[in-house]
Amino acid sequence: MKHSQRVGIFDSGAGGLTVVKSIMEHRFFDEIIYYGDTARVPYGTKDAATITRYALEALEFFKNFDIDLLITACNSVSAHALPEMRANAEIPIYGVIDPGVKALQNSGLDPSSRILILGTRATIQSGRYQKGIEAIGYKNIESIAPSLFVPVVEEGVFEGPVLQSVMTHYFKAIETPDAVILGCTHFPLIAEAIRDYFPNAPLLIHSGEAIAEHLEEQGYLSKRVEKTKLKIFASENPDNLKAIAAKWLQQ
Ligand code: DGL
Repeated sequence: MKHSQRVGIFDSGAGGLTVVKSIMEHRFFDEIIYYGDTARVPYGTKDAATITRYALEALEFFKNFDIDLLITACNSVSAHALPEMRANAEIPIYGVIDPGVKALQNSGLDPSSRILILGTRATIQSGRYQKGIEAIGYKNIESIAPSLFVPVVEEGVFEGPVLQSVMTHYFKAIETPDAVILGCTHFPLIAEAIRDYFPNAPLLIHSGEAIAEHLEEQGYLSKRVEKTKLKIFASENPDNLKAIAAKWLQQ
């Protein structure tokens, strides 16, 4: 069993705060250093080479801090940049895709279940979730990139008619799933609306919970801290990111 004092959490912008929330709730770490690349968000519409370059620059930022491990909360980064990041780091680097796949496996859902993967274009095009989920025996997989969810969430719209019509736009042709992978940092904020949209309240896989479960399995649980401190940094307008954090971490 080991206990790390300080964890870095990296995201393209504010979305990774959903992962911060889960990690804070589990009280694994004394301190979280959060870095959002707010000047260059979104990553989900960019190509693999650009996402990797940005991720390596973020890694350089974290070298200013004595962190024990780094979590890339961003699914788009997890899909494209992990090998290069790991090759350039001396600390463990965790992405959120493998933990998400593991969480689905741990759910014990029948292999014939319908799995719906939601992610950014970059994440869906990488095929990382699809391959991981196929490898654990599921065949009934559909994946879509509902890009409009990201700005809707950033507007603070977590329910109501605008979100309903955006969901209808993307989900109207989708067969009711048994599980939905919330494969983008923003989607946990509209998890309830997504669950309620479908008649059978599908199981939702949340990256924050999945990575917390994964860290627990890795032994980051020898001690629970009283409270996890959070320091927020951004490549642009950190005050705005801090204001979003104050709001979202209450949700
Ligand atoms: N953080 C991104 C992800 O989880 C969503 C926002 C973006 O496109 O940068 O893929």
